[in-house]
Amino acid sequence: MDIMKHLINTADFNKTTIRKLFDRAKQFKSGNIPQSLEGKLVITIFFENSTRTRSSFEVAAKRLGAEVVSLDVAKSSSSKGETLYDTAANLDAMGPNAIIVRHKNAGVPKILSNYVNCPIINGGDGAHAHPTQALLDLFTIMHYFPDPEGKKIAIVGDIKNSRVANSNIELLSRFGLDITLVAPPHFMPRIKAFRKTHSLHEVLDDVDIIMSLRTQTERHTNQIYASLKDYATDFCVTKSLIGDRDIMIMHPGPVNRNIDIDDALLADPRCKVLEQVKNGVFVRMAVLEYLID
Ligand code: CP
Repeated sequence: MDIMKHLINTADFNKTTIRKLFDRAKQFKSGNIPQSLEGKLVITIFFENSTRTRSSFEVAAKRLGAEVVSLDVAKSSSSKGETLYDTAANLDAMGPNAIIVRHKNAGVPKILSNYVNCPIINGGDGAHAHPTQALLDLFTIMHYFPDPEGKKIAIVGDIKNSRVANSNIELLSRFGLDITLVAPPHFMPRIKAFRKTHSLHEVLDDVDIIMSLRTQTERHTNQIYASLKDYATDFCVTKSLIGDRDIMIMHPGPVNRNIDIDDALLADPRCKVLEQVKNGVFVRMAVLEYLID
C-alpha cells in the first residue's frame, strides 16, 4: 500500500520531486492544462485570513477540473465548540481527495495529517511553515536564475515571526542560494548558519535578489517599534535605495506599502510580486496533481 503523501513543510519534497513539479508547472504555464483532477474533491479550511493562498489553491484545483468546497470557518461548527479534530474527521468522512488547511497555531496541519485519509497541504501554520509559498518563490527565482546555486539573496524584515522566511530558508539553502538575513535585532531568528546584518545598506552591492517580508504584528507579544514608520526608516526597500542596481525584488504578500517596499519600487519591472502570485497558481496545480494522483 502506498504511504499517504502530505505537504507540511518544504522538507517533505526532495529536490528531484521539486524539479519535476516545476517542469509540470511550466507546462501548465505554457497553456497545456489537462482536466487531470476531474471527479476529485478538494476542501479548503482557512482558520486565518488569506487573499492569495486560498484563492490560488481554489483556482488551481478548478483549472485541473476538481470540485472545490471551502469551509467558511466563521460559520462552521468550530464556533459551537467542535474540536479541530472533529471538524477534520467530519470533512474527511465526505471523501475529499485533499484538504488544504491554514491555522494560526504551528503544527496543526501535521496533527490533522494523522487523522485523515487524504493528503493534507499546509497553507500556512503559525510562524512554522508555508511550503507552497516557498515553492512558488523558488520557481519564480529559477525563471530568472535557472541555476540558482550561489545566487545571493537577502531576506529582509520580520524573519523571526515569518513562516514564509522559515520555509524559504530551508528550501533556498537546499538549492544552493547564498542567504543573508537582514533584520533589526528583535526580528532576527537565533539560527546560526547564515550571515546576518542589521543594515539593509550593507547588502545592496552584494545581492541578486531581495525578499522583503511583512512585519507580523499579529504575532508580536509587545509593540517593538513606536510605529511601523520607524521600522520603515531602516528596512523599507525603496526605489531610491536600490538605484540602478540589477536586483530582483520579491515579497510574498500582503505588502504593507511604503513600510516593506515603497510605491515606486512596487511599480518597477524589477519587482516580481505579482509574477509570484501568477506562478503560485501553476505551482499549486502541480502540487495538487502530484499529491492527489
Ligand atoms: N502569501 C500569503 O500567504 O498571502 P495570504 O496570506 O494572502 O494567503
